[in-house]
Amino acid sequence: MKLWKKIVLALAIVFLILQLIRPEKNIGNSSAHNITQHFNVPPGVQMILQRSCYDCHSNTTIYPWYAEVQPAGWFLAKHIRDGKRGLNFDEYTSYRLMKQYRRFKDIIDQVGSDEMPLPSYLIIHRDSKLNSTQKNELIQWCTAMQDSMKANYPADSLQRRPQR
Ligand code: HEC
Repeated sequence: MKLWKKIVLALAIVFLILQLIRPEKNIGNSSAHNITQHFNVPPGVQMILQRSCYDCHSNTTIYPWYAEVQPAGWFLAKHIRDGKRGLNFDEYTSYRLMKQYRRFKDIIDQVGSDEMPLPSYLIIHRDSKLNSTQKNELIQWCTAMQDSMKANYPADSLQRRPQR
């Protein structure tokens, strides 16, 4: 066999072996603590969150076909794991009040500076890109949620005490 044929064959075998290592899917786990349990999420905002954020920040991802091809599936799994660790709309109401309050601020910052949704995700999920109307809608909603928390809870349950 020619050398280049051996190399191609070896690469093909490695690729096939990679396919056997499949990350666990993020599908259909509990949403008992979904943000809608405690917060008023109007349909427009809900649509934005589901279309642009839930794939990485909820317990249910809608997977593209290439998630079945490794190593692409591993990269997706890592984004989902990291995204959920910081912010999971299906766990939101289980967070301490302070964290719930702060995450609204984080969303405003991340969306306002175009850091979220992740740019690499938008290359393929073009529909998930937020236009300025949608960004404003999301930011105004987060501000309103923070205001309602401020009205309903004592200030020291929402803010970390200043360090002395
Ligand atoms: C393709 C996956 C993906 C999508 C879609 C996505 N995110 Fe993220 N998000 C991440 C990852 C990964 C991180 C963690 C980044 C890091 O640790 O550097 C993150 C972090 C965040 C954080 C910071 C959390 C913290 O720990 O401080 C916020 C807030 C956030 N995302 C909001 C959003 C919002 C709002 C949307 C929808 C408009 C969105 N994200 C869409 C993957 C995603």
